[in-house]
Amino acid sequence: QAATGAAAVQEHLQELQKIAEANGGHRASGSPGYQASIDYVKAKLDAAGFATTLQEFDSMGGKTYNLLAETPGGDANNVVMVGAHLDSVSEGPGINDNGTGSAAILQAALDFAGSGAQPKNKLRFAFWGAEEEGLVGSSHYVRTLPEQDRGKIAMYLNFDMVGSPNAGYFTYDGDDSDNEGAGPGPEGSAQIEKALNDSFGGAGVATEGTDFDGRSDYGPFIEVGIPAGGTFTGAEGTKTQEQADKWGGQAGQAYDPCYHSSCDTVDNVNQEALDRNLQVISAAVKTFAEQTPTR
Ligand code: PHE
Ligand code: ZN
Ligand code: ZN
Ligand code: ZN
Repeated sequence: QAATGAAAVQEHLQELQKIAEANGGHRASGSPGYQASIDYVKAKLDAAGFATTLQEFDSMGGKTYNLLAETPGGDANNVVMVGAHLDSVSEGPGINDNGTGSAAILQAALDFAGSGAQPKNKLRFAFWGAEEEGLVGSSHYVRTLPEQDRGKIAMYLNFDMVGSPNAGYFTYDGDDSDNEGAGPGPEGSAQIEKALNDSFGGAGVATEGTDFDGRSDYGPFIEVGIPAGGTFTGAEGTKTQEQADKWGGQAGQAYDPCYHSSCDTVDNVNQEALDRNLQVISAAVKTFAEQTPTR
């Protein structure tokens, strides 16, 4: 009997760590460690009945891939996309960034399929290559998508770093209520943010907005007007005293002190933060499989 939920996510992270160790310490796009990561994720999705495809593209002078996996059923004219980048930087194994997002959406997909539920909308999971080289995989995907297919994507959810050791609980600020930097996301993004905030709220976790500034793979989607959202537990930024008071952890220290470095290993993952995010992601998949934001 295969593990489910949080236990299965742990197994995925252990496997990604092993893959990095066997391949020069990283899983950077285009490298053997990236290929092995793709093979591992694809095999799980194939076995669960998803229709998978590899999309090849060039980045930094080499060939690499995005992995797409969709439910056989569901309305192809109203597609819910859920994505995470599967590549690491070349400095380390990239387990929080972004083994956590990849493992969490993989398991949300597997658990959804395992429930036997038939989605009303088609679900399409994306494992992006070359995010660390400048959002290359997700940009390629959106740019090469035929205009008519673009119009069928109802929304995009992104998960990049969801188990930071000194975790914050952030959701992309689709309504621009909490931030001054970037403006609001495309219409519908505010509804996504509210659903994610309510989901954390139900677990007693108060969220903060994080700037919708295009620093991860949702960037190319919001650029073409597709509603988007997602969660994030923090990167190189510093936790404030106020945040430590409500979330725990260490004020004055980075959310992830191992961001983009060799110590981003399985030991760099906050289990509680990752589990809470997995709950929210799985619930969002179920919710949006039935009902997408109104635009
Ligand atoms: N995209 C950044 C990285 O992979 C991390 C990040 C995610 C930063 C979300 C801000 C918001 O390094
Ligand atoms: Zn990164
Ligand atoms: Zn990342
Ligand atoms: Zn907000």
